Amino acid sequence: MINIVGAGLAGLSAAITLAKDGKKCSLISKQPSERAQSVLAEGGINAALDTMGEHDTPQEHFEDTMRGGCYLADEEAVRGLTENAPEILNWLLELGAGLNMQGDKPLLRNFGGQKKKRTAFAKSSTGKIIMTALIDEARKYEVSGLITRYPHHELIGLQVRGETCYGCVIHDEYTDKNICLEGAVILASGGLNGFFDGLTTGTVQNDGSASVLAFEKGAEAANLEFIQFHPTTIAISGKRMLITEAARGEGGRLYALLNGKKSYFMEEKYPELGNLMPRDVVSRESYLISQRAECSGVFLDMSELKKEVWQHKLSDLRNECIHYLALDPQKEPIPVEPGIHYFMGGLKVDKNHQTSIKNLFAAGECAAQYHGANRLGGNSMLGAIYGGHLAAKNAPTDIKAVIDETAADGDDIYLEPNRETQMREALVYGLGIVRGAPRIEKALEMLRGIEGYGKNARLWFAEAMLLSALYRRESRGAHCRSDYPNRSEEFQRPTTARLTGGNSRYNERTVEIN
Ligand code: FUM
Repeated sequence: MINIVGAGLAGLSAAITLAKDGKKCSLISKQPSERAQSVLAEGGINAALDTMGEHDTPQEHFEDTMRGGCYLADEEAVRGLTENAPEILNWLLELGAGLNMQGDKPLLRNFGGQKKKRTAFAKSSTGKIIMTALIDEARKYEVSGLITRYPHHELIGLQVRGETCYGCVIHDEYTDKNICLEGAVILASGGLNGFFDGLTTGTVQNDGSASVLAFEKGAEAANLEFIQFHPTTIAISGKRMLITEAARGEGGRLYALLNGKKSYFMEEKYPELGNLMPRDVVSRESYLISQRAECSGVFLDMSELKKEVWQHKLSDLRNECIHYLALDPQKEPIPVEPGIHYFMGGLKVDKNHQTSIKNLFAAGECAAQYHGANRLGGNSMLGAIYGGHLAAKNAPTDIKAVIDETAADGDDIYLEPNRETQMREALVYGLGIVRGAPRIEKALEMLRGIEGYGKNARLWFAEAMLLSALYRRESRGAHCRSDYPNRSEEFQRPTTARLTGGNSRYNERTVEIN
């Protein structure tokens, strides 16, 4: 039996891969798949399908991904991702995913950091459409007993002895009972939105607790300093609303109002890719211009988009803007700001998606692998599906639990609301779009002043994020240091973080960065 934690794209991909091979798995998730973060993915999924007559190739997809990630992503892994992308897209079509088509071929749109049209899409609800197809496919195997679902269950323990994982403990939210499951574990538990409650485009159901648990058990994390700010978001109640990059892919233009005059700052500074520069660049430029005294805001102008685009490619974006913002983007510009959208860093995995703990795997946003210092839009769904598949292919099926059947791991992977707020304040202070040593050090001081610091794994993990940012004394991708504005050869490698000092939570432990 293999235990998959998370029922979004990475988890479903892993479960279907195992089931297709006739292997059994449990699919554990706090929310049913229909409410996973993947459902919210909007603009599209990349593959060099070359259906638009642009002579695109996986090699160019590879090069764009490496360049976009500022040469920090794992080259071999990105090679596999980009070469397998067309096959993944074809598989999605076979499953009946309702992408926008031209005859029997997927339409592709422009997305950031890529010169060729490479992003397949379903209007701006691509995640929902792909998830629907995978949920349906998984159901077949649920009926045959190969996939056993545990919805409304939370991972509360990892059974690790030495450096090997033998199983996990999950908690049933409805019966309040714990269940111990033996076997290898694949974490597909998403990003770290919960660390920045209310300030990200993602769901806070992805609270990072599974990553914290693995970290506490000794798994290494990598690149935690790289947090992606998406350039076009708007604060709404409880979160940030995403205005998909597809809006710019289809012709939307960013401008800043400087002394009341429009400055199309991206087009002026970057004539080739303009509004479709990689996200780290667009977010930084937008942030910096918004800080100028003469700037009264940054806006996304979609007034020039053709009627056909609104009807067939962005109708749902328009409906959302009218519904949530009381604003019709076909007629009025949208005020936008960069907002936290994705975590490039996470659990460090090898080419098989195994973490530094044997039999413990990670895939999707909780794993650091394909995106380096900055993820290209359209590569996250791809990475989740591909990563889930690889983890499933490599996880062993013959692990037997040899240990305490009831042990959960205690509650030090959580914080109660007021300490969680203090932690978030420290992280927000230290990990902005532009950060420097004084801010990061002050943030560390704030964090270390929180009651219970030194005994709580969630605080250690937050500390690892700040220490990683302090350690990387250069600017690269989403990590922009005011005190080290240039890229440095010395740092062209992932930052790793781990807890040292024994693997019992009762020991003195420290975060070590390399
Ligand atoms: O803007 C977007 O639609 C986001 C896409 C992505 O993060 O891949």
